[in-house]
Amino acid sequence: MKDLNLCFIGCGNMGRSLIGGLLADGYRADRLCGIDPNPQQREITQGRFGIEVYEDNPGIVNQADILVLAVKPQQMRAMLTSLATAMNRARAPLVISVAAGIRIATIERWLGHDLAVVRAMPNTPAIIRTGITGLYANQRATPEHRQQAESLLRSVGAVVWVGMEEHLDIVTALSGSGPAYFFLLMELLERAAVEQGLPAEQARLLTVETALGAARMVMESSHTAATLRQQVTSPGGTTEAAIQVLTQGGIEQLVRQALVAARNRSVELADRFGSDA
Ligand SMILES: NC(=O)c1ccc[n+]([C@@H]2O[C@H](COP(=O)([O-])OP(=O)(O)OC[C@H]3O[C@@H](n4cnc5c(N)ncnc54)[C@H](OP(=O)(O)O)[C@@H]3O)[C@@H](O)[C@H]2O)c1
Repeated sequence: MKDLNLCFIGCGNMGRSLIGGLLADGYRADRLCGIDPNPQQREITQGRFGIEVYEDNPGIVNQADILVLAVKPQQMRAMLTSLATAMNRARAPLVISVAAGIRIATIERWLGHDLAVVRAMPNTPAIIRTGITGLYANQRATPEHRQQAESLLRSVGAVVWVGMEEHLDIVTALSGSGPAYFFLLMELLERAAVEQGLPAEQARLLTVETALGAARMVMESSHTAATLRQQVTSPGGTTEAAIQVLTQGGIEQLVRQALVAARNRSVELADRFGSDA
């Protein structure tokens, strides 16, 4: 993988997270390049990573073994249709798309059906290399292609291959939008502690370290989150008092509804962005 040439189409937040991850993993900067029409993004990316980023260079895509598509979903159609004309089919690069809600069939329709395509759904902590990505590949992708896609996304965190493309809508609802759910819970916990008299700095530190510790416990333990929760909930104790309030307030139903809403929205957006109209 380290001797392959990668070209990033779109060098914004996610493109840069991936470029940073690869370089931290030991990739050579001269193996990577980018295309981005936004002068600010070009300047930041070139300045930070020392890679070539072109305003527009249709020829460069034909030197790439892997094209990483990292433009906004609503920019994918225009980008892919112009890419389709520039591309030399004989070289057939692996195409890895991180665009939320653009289905593989849509990418194939706009780019051509003869390419290996991997769809990836990463999340924001990728920026600090602690993300998690759901992956799905089309029929043309070989085990080697899958390995290459995995190496790219592993450079910014963990990866999970899903068995069917529809599962990426659940991944979007769970881990894609998930950091915001935890931010919200942390925000609310912090605020409630401050309202009860704790200094803001202390409330923040206690909240963050608790979230980190709880996540690490679940990660390192052989028990499920449910078991760990039961183990720390002594009958008649403080934790039970709080959990009762949350349960009686309908937290389980709310979380289920939230996930369904996010998943439904993901499907709606995929229908909209994937439309030829
Ligand atoms: N950020 C995340 O945490 C995250 C998480 C999961 C998935 N994603 C996915 O990653 C993709 C990129 O998101 P982002 O947050 O990185 O967006 P972003 O910061 O806006 O970056 C996209 C970049 O692509 C450029 N661009 C537009 N058209 C282009 C073209 N034809 N060729 C090359 N570059 C082009 C944009 O330029 P302009 O500014 O001029 O438009 C912009 O600089 C999205 O599809 C998103 O769904 C992001």
